[in-house]
Amino acid sequence: GSVRWIWDRAFPILDEETGRVISVAGIAADITERKQAEQRIQDQIARLNALRAVDTVISSSLDLKLSLNSLLPHVIEQLRVDAADVLVFNPGLLQLEYAASIGFHSEAVEQTMHGLEYGPAGDIVLKRQSLYIPDLQKYPWEPGHVPFHKKENFTSYYGVPLVAKGQVKGILEVFSRSPLDPQPDWLDFLNALAGQAAIAIDDAQLFDSLQRSNFELAIAYDATIEGWSRAMDLRDKETEGHTRRVTDLTLKLAGLFGIGDAEKVHIRRGALLHDMGKLGVPDAILFKPDKLTPEEWQIMRRHPAYAYEMLSPIAYLRPALDIPYCHHEKWDGTGYPRGLKGEQIPLPARIFAVVDVWDALRSDRPYRSAWSKEQVREFIRAEAGRHFDPMVVETFLNMDIESQPGF
Ligand code: C2E
Ligand code: SIN
Ligand code: SIN
Ligand code: FE
Ligand code: FE
Repeated sequence: GSVRWIWDRAFPILDEETGRVISVAGIAADITERKQAEQRIQDQIARLNALRAVDTVISSSLDLKLSLNSLLPHVIEQLRVDAADVLVFNPGLLQLEYAASIGFHSEAVEQTMHGLEYGPAGDIVLKRQSLYIPDLQKYPWEPGHVPFHKKENFTSYYGVPLVAKGQVKGILEVFSRSPLDPQPDWLDFLNALAGQAAIAIDDAQLFDSLQRSNFELAIAYDATIEGWSRAMDLRDKETEGHTRRVTDLTLKLAGLFGIGDAEKVHIRRGALLHDMGKLGVPDAILFKPDKLTPEEWQIMRRHPAYAYEMLSPIAYLRPALDIPYCHHEKWDGTGYPRGLKGEQIPLPARIFAVVDVWDALRSDRPYRSAWSKEQVREFIRAEAGRHFDPMVVETFLNMDIESQPGF
């Protein structure tokens, strides 16, 4: 009642006088076992190749769907099953959620999202054990649950927990429309694929949470800076809006100088905090409705150094210090606090200085009222090569500044 492989060799026996064939003699051997062994070796090779192919995709991709979609075709092909799916365990909601599938006729499986309290899937996660169901008809389904295997005509089921670093990451399920008869090498391969799927899920979740914490950190950094910036604006109503305007325009001008996004992050922070050091200048000086005395001026000129002292201990702001520390340096070396000259002054600070003076002069101050647009243009042009980097002035005056938002 079974199919066998037969090796067969036959030869004719001739009549000695007439030369005619009178009979056939032969030998035959049942080589079923040899053929099965050969088949097993071929299967092993195919499975090893499949594992390597899957491994290559998983280690080069952080996209979970992509990794699982490259894994599942190998599952059904090498294991000779009809369908397979991966459900990912959501440890927060304690439920299993659909991630990928292959070989299903209906789309019901894609809706999978349920708790652990019912079905073989929940059982596998809770017990962290594989589950083999030779005949799905006989599984004790809870009343009310409509298993999809009926519509799909599945007979046998095998589910494996996906465990990485001691945690259940989900399950891999395979379905067959004819009875399964799992052999040890079949199970080995299923477990190897389950290991790959677990790694793929773990990698993707690690990457996700890393991205999320980076994002949250960036938001937290920014909230801190915006908070300080608002504290400065609250103190100094006159300059309200100034910080926002000079930051936006400095970033635009930096772009025209070919400065890339990575450095713009620091420029933005530096511009938002450029006059942070004025927090160390007494109100009587900062809000004096008159010229400053030489003593007062000495204190006022300390504000870039104050900013340096306040901000330099904060590691993520150190690359942002160019502007707070150097925005009052002048091209001809007559600025403060260090009297830097020309290109000794960091480019972001040279760019910022033009924007800052422009906006300061266009605004009312306790000691003077705002200058006209033409007066400011004239002043900036005249200061090229003295206060300002001539290249920056040229680029700046070629921008249509007053049409910038906020100006
Ligand atoms: P700020 O008001 O934000 O001014 C920034 C920069 O814009 C000044 O840096 C200066 O380069 C330019 N600027 C502002 N107003 C004028 C002006 O009326 N004429 C000219 N030619 N340039 C002007 P600077 O000079 O290093 O001043 C730094 C800070 O010191 C100013 O920031 C302001 O807070 C304060 N300050 C400067 N001069 C006076 C003053 O006469 N009286 C008072 N109470 N504060 C002053
Ligand atoms: C399951 O994965 O929960 C069982 C599959 C079925 O509903 O037939
Ligand atoms: C195989 O594909 O290796 C055999 C499948 C089975 O054992 O059921
Ligand atoms: Fe300043
Ligand atoms: Fe300013």
